[in-house]
Amino acid sequence: MSQGLVPRPVSVTPAPGVVVLAPGSVVAHDPALRPAARWWRRVTEDAFGLDLVPLPDGAAAHDPTGTTATVRFAVDRDLPPSGCRLTVDDAGVRVDAADLDGAHAAAQTLRQLAGPAAFRRAPVGRDHGGRPWTDGQPRPVAGALTLPHVTITDHPRFAWRGVLLDVARHFLPKADVLRFVDLAAAHKLNVVQLHLTDDQGWRMEIERYPRLTEVGAWRRESGVGTWRAGVSDGRPHGGSYTHDDLREIVAYARERGVTVVPEIDVPGHVEAAVAAYPELGTRKTPHAVRTTWGVSTEVLDPSEESLAFFRDVLDEVLDVFDAPFVALGGDEVPTTLWRDDPAIVARAATLGLDDVADLHGWFLARLAEHVASRGRRAVVWDEAFGPALPRDVVVASWRGWAAGADALAAGHDVVMAPEQVVYLDHREGDGPDEPVPVGFLRTLEDVYAFEPLPGGLADAVARAGAAASGALLGGQAQVWTEHLDSVRRVDYAAFPRLAAFAEVMWSPAADRSVGSAASLEFRARLETHHLPRLDAYGVEYRPPSGPHPWQTRPGVHGWPRDLAAELAAGGLRGVGGWVEGRDRHTGGPA
Ligand code: ACM
Repeated sequence: MSQGLVPRPVSVTPAPGVVVLAPGSVVAHDPALRPAARWWRRVTEDAFGLDLVPLPDGAAAHDPTGTTATVRFAVDRDLPPSGCRLTVDDAGVRVDAADLDGAHAAAQTLRQLAGPAAFRRAPVGRDHGGRPWTDGQPRPVAGALTLPHVTITDHPRFAWRGVLLDVARHFLPKADVLRFVDLAAAHKLNVVQLHLTDDQGWRMEIERYPRLTEVGAWRRESGVGTWRAGVSDGRPHGGSYTHDDLREIVAYARERGVTVVPEIDVPGHVEAAVAAYPELGTRKTPHAVRTTWGVSTEVLDPSEESLAFFRDVLDEVLDVFDAPFVALGGDEVPTTLWRDDPAIVARAATLGLDDVADLHGWFLARLAEHVASRGRRAVVWDEAFGPALPRDVVVASWRGWAAGADALAAGHDVVMAPEQVVYLDHREGDGPDEPVPVGFLRTLEDVYAFEPLPGGLADAVARAGAAASGALLGGQAQVWTEHLDSVRRVDYAAFPRLAAFAEVMWSPAADRSVGSAASLEFRARLETHHLPRLDAYGVEYRPPSGPHPWQTRPGVHGWPRDLAAELAAGGLRGVGGWVEGRDRHTGGPA
């Protein structure tokens, strides 16, 4: 019995009875837990139309006037990190939390316990807050909510429960980013990686280099579907966030226990930056922001000037974002233009590198050192893993699991993000109605079966020596937006699969394979309890039976890949992902 909670808690013990929260119910909190108590109080007040009464920081359960708090948030350091215990009984609601993260998690659980109505912004009770209706009849004041008696103990399986949101390929207005952060928090995800820059757009204002957004934040038009179809929409697309927009997103996320990790992708995926400042590029020739998808050969000139430029950029990034981590990209870096440039080949030799391709790792290592000198840690995609990479850099393994396992064995902390399972832009069904079907077929059940470190690899990492091994921080789902051009398309791709991913990240390890008892139970719980929450929130998720007619994209071509064939060819390492000379999505010539 789980009370229909998603993700499923470690333990749930229901009991008969309910607690009623009514206008004037008192909420007390230890000072350290104030942000979580405040967030919960505000969403509850809005959703149910009732005013709760917060006690000042740290006021005891009994205040001087003798008021008894109905809801108490208290620190219990005996609980595991980020853990909590939630008790709803005749005494009221008590949240005991190891720390603020634990209190945020408990607050989300409390919201779910209150039913789908808790996911609305205003009460739907048939009253108007006490005002008479037009018929002149008075209506009762809104606002009571009932919570079932229950005891829940909980803590997360992984510390990094991430989701990447690509706002570079298609800009997502700030309001939609805030909403996405809120939805991530609702699933107890605690990292949102904002992919802020790519070939097709640069989205963060950089005061020192204004052309990055003046030029780099818009493009003439966008590809429609796979680039192979050669179809464009002819419509300008653009948008960017100011420093204050991003500070607001960071603060909003912090209020929900979510860390926003910014990503500035270098030295590949930089065409928008090169469009703004051609001297950064290898060719130094002006060109427009890229309008098609796929991997560009235009990468940074790995020069001292480029390094200085991106150190400046990162200084502004570090000023705006407070996350302990900053992602530097490092994926999909064709070295063709470097090889063709004698000066760059000579530079690699002068630096003592064996091959011009090693400039990739060299360049990222220099920027990672800069990030480290400012007290933060860099995160890179797995192509950047190699001997040159400083040990404190976190490796995000996207081309499969093996690079992540190798990085773990080499002492790096790792986030598993394999495209074979947790790329949520990939198609969720193989029916003819699936909109823009790209990538592997990854159903809800496939995502639920995700295991960040499958047994065989875990053994291999252990054999490599526990002393040297880094930590598996957790996992990250990716929402790339080449084919998600609006928040409605993001909703469709992300939900409900992100709920499945969140449960894998949060709940204790289990056999979640397709067809397992856990998988069947999850699907039933999702459909009975969780989809109504998403409905109440206003999430346009993919219905279990397939897309609504308006969610289809007739005539827009995707590029489906065959996971079984690719895994057979490459094993767990997979052959997905881009390697020089091979196309990312076909494995064929680029
Ligand atoms: C990636 O998908 N290139 C990280």
